[in-house]
Amino acid sequence: MMASSPAKVILFGEHAVVYGQPAIAVPVSALRAYAEVEATGKAFRIVAVDLNDKQIDFDIDDPLAQVARLTLERLDKPIPQVSLLVKSDIPIASGLGSGAAISTAIVRTLAAYYGVKLPNETINEIVYEVEKIHHGTPSGIDNTVIVYEQAVYFVRGKALETIANAKPFTLLVADTGQSALTKIAVGDLRQLYEADRANIQPLLDGVGALVEKARSAMKQGDILQLGQLMLENHALLQKMTVSSPELDRLVTAAMQAGALGAKLSGGGRGGNMIVLVTEETKDGVIQALKTAGAVRVFETIVEVF
Ligand code: PMV
Repeated sequence: MMASSPAKVILFGEHAVVYGQPAIAVPVSALRAYAEVEATGKAFRIVAVDLNDKQIDFDIDDPLAQVARLTLERLDKPIPQVSLLVKSDIPIASGLGSGAAISTAIVRTLAAYYGVKLPNETINEIVYEVEKIHHGTPSGIDNTVIVYEQAVYFVRGKALETIANAKPFTLLVADTGQSALTKIAVGDLRQLYEADRANIQPLLDGVGALVEKARSAMKQGDILQLGQLMLENHALLQKMTVSSPELDRLVTAAMQAGALGAKLSGGGRGGNMIVLVTEETKDGVIQALKTAGAVRVFETIVEVF
């Protein structure tokens, strides 16, 4: 029994989404986390295949064990005598939602083991509980886009809305190589907000307005406008102090090489940034990103939906 879940990128609205503004995120279906149940007849354990087969017991203080506990509690089932093998292609702590993807795969596999098909809504609730342990005050966007595996227009606490995209576009996702904890960037912005609300609130409102424009641009297939909005969003994120010199360097390099737009994606301070490219500019931009220090660049197409 095996389940898998995708990575995600936030296209617009990270951070402001924590304060109730809308955000747009899409799944990256080519990069996935996997969980597989193997009957052993021995005590339950999780095996983290990517971490040298690290073994995690059921009752220890670990986010993966926590997912298993919450899932079984929800299913109202006993602890099974199995090994739960977990592995992931998604780089950790880099804004691609690896934690939520691993959690989602675990919930799905355990439910499938007991022959139960949990509704996405329930899976989303369980994964959100675990995200809270990782992140403190997560908006819920990561778990939502990953559990539903659909492009979402997300507002904290509101029902899921999918988003329409009229024209496919290509994004490059470039890794600064610097891992950064979302929790810290979110906490720092919270402090800044509490200390200087008069200056921070307009930035958050600015992001909200820009997300609405991006939603229309996607609906109309206006790729040039999307690129422009990415740059504007990055500028606002800089003002919120969640960018970093490395992220800014990659944004500048991409734009100099002819990209249509670029911005950090996710928690910031490191991790990944995204770039909007055309077929003609793609190769040159990839080269420029690598020269500017990106340790990994991959391509993903945002399809029509
Ligand atoms: O770093 P990631 O991909 O987990 O994204 C975090 C997104 C934030 O808006 C910064 C936080 C949140 O909970 O939405």
